[in-house]
Amino acid sequence: MKLLIIGGGVFLGRAIVAEALRRGHEVTTFNRGRSGVDLPGVEAVRGDREVPADLDRLVDGRRWDAVIDVCGFTPRVVLDSVRRLSGHVGHYTFISSISAYADFPGKPGVDESSARYECPPDADADYSDYGVLKAGCERAVEEHFDGPALIVQPGLIIGPHENVGRLPWWLTRIARGGRVLAPGDPALPMQLIDARDIAAFTLDQAAGGATGRFLTGGVPGRATYGSWLRECVEVTGSDAELVWVDDAFLLDRGVELWSELPLWASGELARGVWATSSAKALAAGLTCRPLSETVRDTWEWLRDIPEERRSFGARTLRHGIDPDKEARILAEWSA
Ligand SMILES: NC(=O)c1ccc[n+]([C@@H]2O[C@H](COP(=O)([O-])OP(=O)(O)OC[C@H]3O[C@@H](n4cnc5c(N)ncnc54)[C@H](OP(=O)(O)O)[C@@H]3O)[C@@H](O)[C@H]2O)c1
Repeated sequence: MKLLIIGGGVFLGRAIVAEALRRGHEVTTFNRGRSGVDLPGVEAVRGDREVPADLDRLVDGRRWDAVIDVCGFTPRVVLDSVRRLSGHVGHYTFISSISAYADFPGKPGVDESSARYECPPDADADYSDYGVLKAGCERAVEEHFDGPALIVQPGLIIGPHENVGRLPWWLTRIARGGRVLAPGDPALPMQLIDARDIAAFTLDQAAGGATGRFLTGGVPGRATYGSWLRECVEVTGSDAELVWVDDAFLLDRGVELWSELPLWASGELARGVWATSSAKALAAGLTCRPLSETVRDTWEWLRDIPEERRSFGARTLRHGIDPDKEARILAEWSA
């Protein structure tokens, strides 16, 4: 395929580019050249998707079999790309998020039949927050692209080059060793997916001209909090001792769910966030590698990056607990 990737330089987009090149596709990437890398073999076109003249320059006299739009967060911006690319690409894939569903993470069992947020396809960034805006972006593609459109809705993504800093934070903390504050119940099931598995699925579907929405959250219950932190101990070869501390004890001491101890969920949140259904994608060919492989490959990538250059900040949220606070809570727990 002749493929255009909007974005493509950092994490999931980078995994899609790497897999597309491995499969022998001809890949053009379009980004500003600020935050990512150009993998060898791509045609890198520099430009800002929010600048109409840059989009005009991108498409002038060109045609691709398919586009994969990885970095859309504002419906109006995605709508502009959809309009400009119509007639220049045969198939449009938009990388959305499970957060586009209004019941996520409040209720377990979210799937493609669940209600999405209401959001117009031309909404601006100040209309609402991430999940609502993703729903608007989806509508911009579904309602305004002049050809077949596919929406991929990832759940919680991990893997090499993760830029959110969830697994990288845990690996970094556990590699340091000693007593490590491990949150909640080690038997609690989680649901994670490797970026490379989403990449393979997305390319398969785009090549086959698939349409509609696919939730790609991975297989529920394949991992537990215990298994995923133990994998981190194993791959880092650390002497870390995981000290499991009750949810209530942590909440009483003001530890933030989800971010301070990355991916720590409890109560309602734990029931909803780790129990979405990827049955449709699995039936269509999504395969999910074992967690051990993801943790191992992520450590192999991360270990060469000096600690001070590792980043644990998502777009809006910083991850990780202050070491003094962790030590204080561990001391109180053991007292
Ligand atoms: N992480 C998760 O757990 C999770 C879960 C669900 C869904 N998702 C979704 O998955 C996607 C992940 O994205 P990623 O960061 O991994 O993708 P990526 O394609 O690897 O990186 C983002 C790319 O977008 C480019 N970009 C940003 N703003 C741009 C602009 N205005 N014009 C042109 N290019 C621009 C960046 O390059 P420059 O900055 O150089 O322009 C970079 O190359 C997102 O859509 C996210 O909502 C993530």
